[in-house]
Amino acid sequence: MNVLIIGEGARESAILHKVHQSPKVSRIYIAPGNGGTASIAENIDISSNDFDKLTKFVKENKIDLTIVGPEIPLSNGIVDHFESHGLNIFGPSRKASRIEGSKVFAKNLMKEFNIPTAKYEAFSDEKSAIKYLENSSFPIVIKADGLAAGKGVYISENKNDALQAIKEMMSDNIFGNSGKNVVIEEFLIGSEFSVFAFTNGKEIKTLLSACDYKKVFDGDKGPNTGGMGSYSPAPQLSPENKKFIISKIINPTLEALRSKNSEFVGVLYCGLILTKDGIFVIEFNCRLGDPETQVVLPSLEYDIIDLIESCLNKNNNKIFETNSKPAVGVVLTSKGYPGKYNTGKKITISDYFDKNNSYIFHAGTKKSKENLLTSGGRVLTVVGTGNSINEARNLAYKLCNKINFNNKYFRKDIAKIIKE
Ligand code: AMP
Ligand code: GLY
Repeated sequence: MNVLIIGEGARESAILHKVHQSPKVSRIYIAPGNGGTASIAENIDISSNDFDKLTKFVKENKIDLTIVGPEIPLSNGIVDHFESHGLNIFGPSRKASRIEGSKVFAKNLMKEFNIPTAKYEAFSDEKSAIKYLENSSFPIVIKADGLAAGKGVYISENKNDALQAIKEMMSDNIFGNSGKNVVIEEFLIGSEFSVFAFTNGKEIKTLLSACDYKKVFDGDKGPNTGGMGSYSPAPQLSPENKKFIISKIINPTLEALRSKNSEFVGVLYCGLILTKDGIFVIEFNCRLGDPETQVVLPSLEYDIIDLIESCLNKNNNKIFETNSKPAVGVVLTSKGYPGKYNTGKKITISDYFDKNNSYIFHAGTKKSKENLLTSGGRVLTVVGTGNSINEARNLAYKLCNKINFNNKYFRKDIAKIIKE
């Protein structure tokens, strides 16, 4: 079969790596891809939001399956568009993607169906939001309703910070329409982790888990980024917690979405927090995470195409064992990211050893003649796998030191405090 992958980051590079391993697949295209993907797929210069061009390409090139990486095309209805042309695509519909695209929708759904989440109120006018703060305790969490590239959540330590957050979102419109409505919610204390449920809308086909690091500096300091590293499996996922997550969070959420005529087929990303009072949902996403995908996919023992087909085909009742081989991913960035940084730096890999247990997934890279150059803030995710998190981490960091480019920066403490 022929496959098209939509996206350009290290997440999509990891999906590509897995699709490439499938004996069912003959040709792979990626739109738009990056400097690394071109070595095993054909990069196609079409934006992930140009649905007309994409469907035309899919028809002309006899693509049998399209897999969508990022949330923006999903929220804009790429799946509905493809399906209206009779094309096979893996991901949730526009309506189902609201679970990520609208925090108000997600929170209201959780409240209605008793899915554990932080207490909250939603506001569409600034005055009421400000008034609500009068009787609030701090810290408090203020969230823009819509997509905001991971920047739309503020943790306000006091009333002044909270007022400033509301002003930025609701009257300065720094997130555009995404900040027209806001959610104000209780601040939860605990350890965060994520689970990813591949689903046909009714059943979970497999459940993978990981933890990610969002802050730019060691010790979780500095501004948020798109992700500086990750490891899998999440230590919070004990058999007992897993049972709770499936029965009290994922299954009720899938049922809730079905009841709203928004059946969710794809990967439901549950961002969770383990507190002293139990597990709560921090957020849902409508797709795989980045950089979590880079640590959960490499060690899957089954064919990812079989897994996706089992989600798409209503008559396929196959369930896949969750594989939890330890993996650690470290993101190499251009120094200065998430602020200003330079690109166009030559990347060299002096020794790529142990290719069966380590992986280099490209993101902000491009090919220029014979050279590989940096082209973005997050450049590569370097992944090690092993029999323990320790072994995986040592391998990943060893490989990080074999890769060089001017202004290379990475965190040194990914997966460092994991007890095994
Ligand atoms: P979100 O985009 O909703 O995942 O929020 C981004 C980050 O903000 C999360 O990964 C948490 O670290 C933090 N956060 C969000 N909501 C809460 C909450 N209710 N309590 C504590 N931290 C939160
Ligand atoms: N790692 C967080 C995300 O993908 O949204």
